[in-house]
Amino acid sequence: MTRKEQILLLLEEQQGEAISGQEIADKLSVTRAGVWKAIKLLQKEGYAIEAVPNKGYTLKKSADVLSAAHIRQKLSERGTELFVKVEKEVVSTNTSLRQYAEQGEKRDMLLLAEHQSGGKGRKGRSFYSPEGSGLYMSLLLHPEMPAHEGTLITTMTAAAVALALEHVSGQQVQIKWVNDVLVRGKKVVGILTEGSSSMEEGRFEYVIVGIGINVYEPSGGFPPEVSQVAGAVFSGDVCRENLRNRIAVEVVNEFMKYYRSFQEKAFLEDYRSRSYLIGQRVRIIPTERITAEGASLQEDESFSTATVLGIDDECHLVVQYEDGRQETLSNGEVSVRESFQLR
Ligand code: BTN
Repeated sequence: MTRKEQILLLLEEQQGEAISGQEIADKLSVTRAGVWKAIKLLQKEGYAIEAVPNKGYTLKKSADVLSAAHIRQKLSERGTELFVKVEKEVVSTNTSLRQYAEQGEKRDMLLLAEHQSGGKGRKGRSFYSPEGSGLYMSLLLHPEMPAHEGTLITTMTAAAVALALEHVSGQQVQIKWVNDVLVRGKKVVGILTEGSSSMEEGRFEYVIVGIGINVYEPSGGFPPEVSQVAGAVFSGDVCRENLRNRIAVEVVNEFMKYYRSFQEKAFLEDYRSRSYLIGQRVRIIPTERITAEGASLQEDESFSTATVLGIDDECHLVVQYEDGRQETLSNGEVSVRESFQLR
């Protein structure tokens, strides 16, 4: 842990009470000038640290700034050792981790950013990633698994995020096949899994799991192109103290529980029991009909209508058409919409 991170942890442990520069210096065996320098750097990074005359320093309780020290400590308390890094701004946490991996990073890593200038979504779309309202994080992993099994990592992530958001927010969370996580009927999470595999061995060299969570409503609202479908986990007033750090820790913990016993597919039950589509009538749209920009499909286009019966162990959607015929659909081939919704 760096000096800066040690000081941040001490301040967090004080829970809003002041701690003197001398006390910090003694605890960490550094000079008071060293403490002061580190505090200045933390303030510059956005931590709401106040200097109280004759008392010392306090970290304002309402601070909701991402903290690698906090996340690392909470994860290791529960047995997860990851190299954790927080950046103020990146183009995309997935892209940054790909660069780490390509440069030979062999550690498993968690990268979080306050803001992404070019957040990536699925199907070549972008992911709106404004500062302050969202949680943008990616995991770099080196799984010992055949590459063809990797398709379920995204599904597993959706289940992990759903559980984590239920714990932290106390709200009901649903999953819309294949990996949209919904709160109050709106998509609040985007997941983008990327990887590199060795052609000869058919195994992963690395996998990057990117997770974007709309924690609060963005101050200017969502952009028009996503405002119909996107929502935030929390609407209205909520105590924001350390909230995004707590969500990050919870998500990684739930993810790691499933990931360590991936072969057992323990996530499937949690995934199915939160399914938004099972029992619903849906329209089935061949993937090639969905444009990269997500352009709306025409009202008069006719697509097959079916009822969703379930989700099999490979996370394929089992549907029944109106003529009674049943089919198992995979995510790569089709996309589904509720029968009243086209976009
Ligand atoms: C989607 O719903 O289309 C997937 C969106 C994935 C967004 C996350 S945010 C963190 C990570 N970095 C990215 O650039 N994308 C993923």
